[in-house]
Amino acid sequence: MTSTTTETTAQLQYIEKGGAFKIVQVPKPTLAPGEVLIRQRVAALNLVDVKQRDLGLMIPSWPTVLGIEGAGVVEAVGSEVRDLQPGDEVAGLEGGGAHDVAWGGAFQECVAVPATLLAKKPKNISLVEAASLPVGFITAVCGIVYSLKIPLPFLHGLSTKGEAPSSVLVLGGSSVTGAAVIQLLRKAYPALPILATSSPKHNARLYDLGATSVVDYKSPSVVTDIKAASPGAAGVDVIFDCVSAGASQTDISDVFDSAGSKRYAAVVTSVTVPVPEGVTKLDVGGWNIVDLQGGMQLISSLTKLVEEGTYRVPLPVRVVGHGLEELPKVLDEVKTVSGEKVVVTL
Ligand SMILES: NC(=O)c1ccc[n+]([C@@H]2O[C@H](COP(=O)([O-])OP(=O)(O)OC[C@H]3O[C@@H](n4cnc5c(N)ncnc54)[C@H](OP(=O)(O)O)[C@@H]3O)[C@@H](O)[C@H]2O)c1
Repeated sequence: MTSTTTETTAQLQYIEKGGAFKIVQVPKPTLAPGEVLIRQRVAALNLVDVKQRDLGLMIPSWPTVLGIEGAGVVEAVGSEVRDLQPGDEVAGLEGGGAHDVAWGGAFQECVAVPATLLAKKPKNISLVEAASLPVGFITAVCGIVYSLKIPLPFLHGLSTKGEAPSSVLVLGGSSVTGAAVIQLLRKAYPALPILATSSPKHNARLYDLGATSVVDYKSPSVVTDIKAASPGAAGVDVIFDCVSAGASQTDISDVFDSAGSKRYAAVVTSVTVPVPEGVTKLDVGGWNIVDLQGGMQLISSLTKLVEEGTYRVPLPVRVVGHGLEELPKVLDEVKTVSGEKVVVTL
């Protein structure tokens, strides 16, 4: 059993690349002026956790505490934190390795996180649901606004450079990122044709979020089916590939409208997506939050967006385990998720 005292806290430490781990007691972190100490209640699981564990991606040194997303209760705040106080329930980007700087780590009982990367729990959802939001939301917004230069005017303070597309195809509509992309584009552009690929079992959800056509990505005629579903059967203007689908479906660029912008946004995974000549490939990463004008207000804006109904929890959330001891046993569940988000309670 792990336990947190007034001076110490339990951490799940991965010792080296490959998965060896131990649970240790360490001193509670000393807070920087802009940081918040969170008593963790939920760690949301992401495929990147597995890739970091197995491949050492974006891990500057070992041992390391994994986990990029989670939620809990504020235990203490740094001297410059104004909007949060002890007792507040929060969710956020609780760890990362972007730009080769490791910090935080959701897989521990207490974590220090910059206040700018946290949102107060929206009143109308549970803490478990709140923990599932940050990574999908920021990856979707960064991909749309920063990489594709498609404005989302309802997100005040964000860059407004660029223009609306004439149609968008979301590859991996039932992924966390894809479900977020669909609803954000629908909110910003009520008449935009939004096509998506998915297993048919998720169609109802994706139509509900705002897709206009959903095509089965396992169909042998998927390329023809997408083209037939596009406006005037002419093809699509923009592709947003959330799951590196183009790495296996290598003829997917045939669905572009020859008169369109042929922009292919691809969420950065460990797989490279090739695109043919004439197609502009744009990388998408949640880490662009720091490069995007207004990006650092994004996570805190989630509270209001969810409370007013502008942004919904994109996918159902399933608790797959409890406690730091169980976390390593269930982490691999992220490899097989289908139209849901998996989390561990702490
Ligand atoms: N670079 C970054 O900042 C960043 C941020 C977030 C995510 N990522 C990466 O982006 C990827 C997606 O993450 P996520 O959490 O959004 O995904 P996810 O929720 O784990 O994706 C799982 C879903 O993708 C669907 N899917 C899988 N292959 C598909 C294909 N070829 N065509 C259509 N749908 C397909 C599955 O559908 P079925 O179950 O129906 O088959 C399943 O519902 C991961 O590799 C993750 O590491 C990177």
